[in-house]
Amino acid sequence: APDGAAAAEATAARIAARLEAAPASVLGLATGGTMEPVYAALIDRHRQGLSFAQATSFNLDEYVGLAGDHPQSYRRYMREHLFGEIDIDPARCFIPRGDIDPEKAAEGYEAELSRLGPIDLQLLGLGRNGHIGFNEPTSSLASRTRCVRLSASTLEANRRFFDGGETPPTTAVTMGVATIIEAREILLLAVGAEKAQAVQAMVEGPVTAICPASALQFHERATIVLDAAAAARLE
Ligand code: F6R
Repeated sequence: APDGAAAAEATAARIAARLEAAPASVLGLATGGTMEPVYAALIDRHRQGLSFAQATSFNLDEYVGLAGDHPQSYRRYMREHLFGEIDIDPARCFIPRGDIDPEKAAEGYEAELSRLGPIDLQLLGLGRNGHIGFNEPTSSLASRTRCVRLSASTLEANRRFFDGGETPPTTAVTMGVATIIEAREILLLAVGAEKAQAVQAMVEGPVTAICPASALQFHERATIVLDAAAAARLE
């Protein structure tokens, strides 16, 4: 897409088309700055009649140790940026628990995924270091939902969201790389020059745990939506 706004609109259009064709879809959702305009576009579409009433959603990840109403928790992000503005049934919105023993949270999440999955359409963002979900470089490409330590670069990128004095979480529960690529279809959105190197590694580099997003090369139905800046380093 020519710019970030067009890329977000194209991503939202694809999700809306999926829901229109199959209203009871299981959607895999992401958080982060990249998704904000996507969710805003979906809210607009909802106001024009798009319904989420029969959908189920699974979020990729959640910080460990933050209460569900903490301003930086992904629960709160989803409520503010999407769930609070659409007609999705909150009982069918799954997000890994960050407020219980992380091993139990991961186990419980995999159980919910096998009960209600597979995910029909998994939305993904891309970390500057090639992460998907919170699968940081060196994550096993066979990994499942688990508790992970956040990398120094992710901690640095996140620090700005936490008030001075507050210690940002250093661990998270994330769906694994193998869990993610079990989705029937994948839709990854990356915008901006700071993603260009990770985009190149994901699309044109070798499949390697150093760039967890490179595992998408194995997927038969993965679409990568980019703006011109994020695509700048592609051959
Ligand atoms: C968020 C997530 C992360 C983000 C990635 C990009 O649920 O799983 O992988 O998608 O860190 O974040 P932004 O969009 O803030 O650049």
